Amino acid sequence: MQTTDRDIAEQATTSSSSLLSSRGQKNSKFLSGPIKKVAAVFRDQYDSELNPNGIVVLGVADNALMRGELLKFFNTDRLHLTGPELTYGDRFFTSTRLITALCKLFNDTPVGLDKEKPKLIKKVTADDIVVGSGATGILDALFTMLCNPGEGVLLSVPYYNGFDHDLTARAEAKIVEVYTPLPEVADPSKPKEPAQPSPSFTVDTVKAYQTSLDKAREDGTTVKALLICNPHNPTGLVYPRETIVALAKFAAKEKLHLVVDEIYARSVFHSADISDSSATRFETILSIDVEKEAGLPRGQVHVVTSASKDFGINGFRLGVYVNQGSEEIISAMTSVGILSQSSAPAGALWYSWLEDQDFLSWYFAENHRRMQGAYEYVTKWCRAHKIPYVPSNSGHFLLLDFQQFLKLKDGASEEKKREAEGELLGRLMDKGVFIAPGASYHHPIPGWFRLTFSLSPVAVKEGLSRAEKVLGLKSYISTIPMPNFEESMIQLPERLAQMQL
Ligand SMILES: Cc1ncc(COP(=O)(O)O)c(C=O)c1O
Repeated sequence: MQTTDRDIAEQATTSSSSLLSSRGQKNSKFLSGPIKKVAAVFRDQYDSELNPNGIVVLGVADNALMRGELLKFFNTDRLHLTGPELTYGDRFFTSTRLITALCKLFNDTPVGLDKEKPKLIKKVTADDIVVGSGATGILDALFTMLCNPGEGVLLSVPYYNGFDHDLTARAEAKIVEVYTPLPEVADPSKPKEPAQPSPSFTVDTVKAYQTSLDKAREDGTTVKALLICNPHNPTGLVYPRETIVALAKFAAKEKLHLVVDEIYARSVFHSADISDSSATRFETILSIDVEKEAGLPRGQVHVVTSASKDFGINGFRLGVYVNQGSEEIISAMTSVGILSQSSAPAGALWYSWLEDQDFLSWYFAENHRRMQGAYEYVTKWCRAHKIPYVPSNSGHFLLLDFQQFLKLKDGASEEKKREAEGELLGRLMDKGVFIAPGASYHHPIPGWFRLTFSLSPVAVKEGLSRAEKVLGLKSYISTIPMPNFEESMIQLPERLAQMQL
């Protein structure tokens, strides 16, 4: 059976001869699983010039589509540190300039594909925000503050693989899986229809949450929270507004916290597969009156985001937490946040960008355009090879059905199918391409993989070409033109164009 990192940590028995605490021993074992292989892959990453024989990493959520422009932007005399930034900032925990720029981001910068600024129920103020070391650091702190060890968090499968570590490594929360229907796969032969919510994200799915909650309670688990990721990793779909309200009502009824990871809020694009409609439009929970519409106290709503995904700067390690109703939780998050603070120079670079409204607006428009093109490039490949995929309109990745490529005997058990998924991953890695296996996301059906499309077209082409060889497909990707994003780039505002960005 293909084990996940969480399985390894959970099954780890503690030894009295170890010098570590039981928590320390579990975390040490955690790093002996699949994540260790990912770290090894990172050390030998493909680069068309510097490491052409390295592994093409199509299995990590990364947006490199704007990398060239971002490097030019940041490397053009952007970092102007102030005295307090050489010490503990001017707020002890972070800097006023960063917090002010973040308030403006939440209050004034459109989300999803909107052109208008978000209509928030309450403006975000400095008192509502905590900055930490990436969404990872924020999630770790948040679940440590919300849950006692062993307390449950409802989470529908498949889910972002990092949650396993973020919720359990230190917080020791227990993930309670929820089995909502799986998303439909694309049928490219059919014309585009008015978009309906994916079956995974309809109002009806509340029943699946209730079933898992009741079962967990029967088993003696106290459930404290419900966690959703909107837009969703790994399906790349958004929650319709009515489902968020239904889940908020459910959280209110069951006295649960509602945690919404909105790290892809500005990574929504016009998808060739999905028509734009209210069912596919992203809505931040900050613009839903949860108290009025769902009876859920605002303090029980927790929003997590970061600089990583929408801004394409995973390496900055800047995470943001918003709560607009509980001073107690803001205080707890700030206090534990001291343990994993963000770095002032990273913050200074981010606010220099957030304060540059021209560059910010241009970046989002151009980024959405490139995401659309990158998505089309990969889905064209899927269709040519008759590889089913989940049509999507957000995030950096696509869920692909590789079941037809698993080496299986007739009537193979679930366990054998998972083994075959791991074996296929091994074959892909041997030929120099890493695509993330469904097991890491707790995908209930073996044979699904998550592939990142928002990388440089050269890397994607190389990765898909290597995958074609492993999967026994005829060569296709090298026969179609690669997207050339620079060619038809949205014009930069005059001032920035003069800086030759
Ligand atoms: C849904 C989701 N949440 C959180 C994270 C962690 O992000 P960060 O780099 O800010 O720690 C990721 C990273 O892939 C993610 O996809």
